[in-house]
Amino acid sequence: MSIPNHVAIIMDGNGRWAAQRGWPRIKGHKEGVRTVEAILEAASDAGVKHLSLYAFSTENWKRPSLEVSTLMALFRMYLRMFLPKLRQKGIRFHHLGALEGLPPGIQRDIRFLEDTTREYEGMVFHLAVNYGSRLEIAEAARRCVEDGLTADKITEDALAARLWTAGVPDVDLLIRTSGEFRISNFLLWQAAYAEFYLTECLWPDFRGPELMEALRAYANRERRFGGI
Ligand code: FPP
Repeated sequence: MSIPNHVAIIMDGNGRWAAQRGWPRIKGHKEGVRTVEAILEAASDAGVKHLSLYAFSTENWKRPSLEVSTLMALFRMYLRMFLPKLRQKGIRFHHLGALEGLPPGIQRDIRFLEDTTREYEGMVFHLAVNYGSRLEIAEAARRCVEDGLTADKITEDALAARLWTAGVPDVDLLIRTSGEFRISNFLLWQAAYAEFYLTECLWPDFRGPELMEALRAYANRERRFGGI
């Protein structure tokens, strides 16, 4: 079976999963963290080389302040808890997003995970926190100017080399859970030729078997990259 090099996932539906049970939204997010751990293992075992998960967007700051602070508390509580799994599977951690816009404690956790796993040679786990694709592209353009590039040197390669994903292959498979059909400012540049897999399954219920189903669907797609 052909396995995508780079799988990106918009993790959606935590709130609805909790609401269906009459529980507060936070319980959905907590269960969502367990799914993150399960998917890390399943993707790494399947031979995926890059896994990008969208945890918090630059637009998510607009959510009620209690939900934002709860999500930030969850990141603080759980980020370091991924370390045993990362160690066990040799998974390298990499943050995508504007680090400086995050609370200092989370910045430290992110740096700690990146530093500790820097030499690991298995799958790379890109966690998008305070991530926005338009911001990423605008920042890359700004860096081209800062680097003194003249107009004729501003090419696709020059921009790609200045994105947060510099050196990371393009997204092959983009998954969104919970029956929504939007890209929500996630990896717009990198997903230019990605295959989409949309599922009704809510994120807390999206575990190894559901990922394998998505990988099987991907393997049956014919990719032409604009050719015929
Ligand atoms: C979307 O569900 C989910 C989020 C905005 C947060 C995703 C975060 C996690 C799964 C936690 C990740 C944590 C770590 C430590 C990696 P929603 O709230 O939009 O659900 P709804 O659409 O049903 O309301």
